[in-house]
Amino acid sequence: MKNAEKAAALSYDRQAWCTPPEVVKGLAQTLLGKDSFDGDAASSPDNAVAAQRVDNFFTEDIVSGHWFLNPPYDEIQEFVDRAFQQLGKGMHSITILVPVRSKEEHWWKELQEKAHTVVSFPHHLSFIPPAGGPPRRQAPFPSVAFHLRSRPSRSQIRRSLAL
Ligand SMILES: C[S@@+](CC[C@H](N)C(=O)[O-])C[C@H]1O[C@@H](n2cnc3c(N)ncnc32)[C@H](O)[C@@H]1O
Repeated sequence: MKNAEKAAALSYDRQAWCTPPEVVKGLAQTLLGKDSFDGDAASSPDNAVAAQRVDNFFTEDIVSGHWFLNPPYDEIQEFVDRAFQQLGKGMHSITILVPVRSKEEHWWKELQEKAHTVVSFPHHLSFIPPAGGPPRRQAPFPSVAFHLRSRPSRSQIRRSLAL
């Protein structure tokens, strides 16, 4: 991808690019042994990737189930903090899909340390643009999914998911 195209793709409403359905299904199968997550923690009514959703992750408590989270990229720290808080309240697990970042980011360090399973992808994912956005194409950055459980485990599992 040329630099100008890359900048345009990155800047176009970074908050609302959607997770490819095959990625959601692959993660649910790999991590939970079923085809879908119970809930989507960051969505609008038209882009939820699970049967349940919350209008506002910061004010609605999630008390059970296995949730998926692809946070708005400008608020990753806030969403990760809230995810840890919700795990202590009954939510069984949350799988957080984020762009690979440097060790300087607090949320990155925390996820690396506390995840039960870390799933990497051999290719950059092709996120789905919001309506009116640029065409779908591979992201210019790599992604990783961190699976957090309410009960921490002693050792961390590392998986790779080819899609
Ligand atoms: C990166 S998109 C993910 C969309 C979709 N859930 C997916 O994974 O394909 C982030 C979504 O979070 C939503 N969002 C923003 N603030 C939110 C909040 N406080 N609570 C729940 N969802 C929120 C946005 O409307 C946007 O649709």
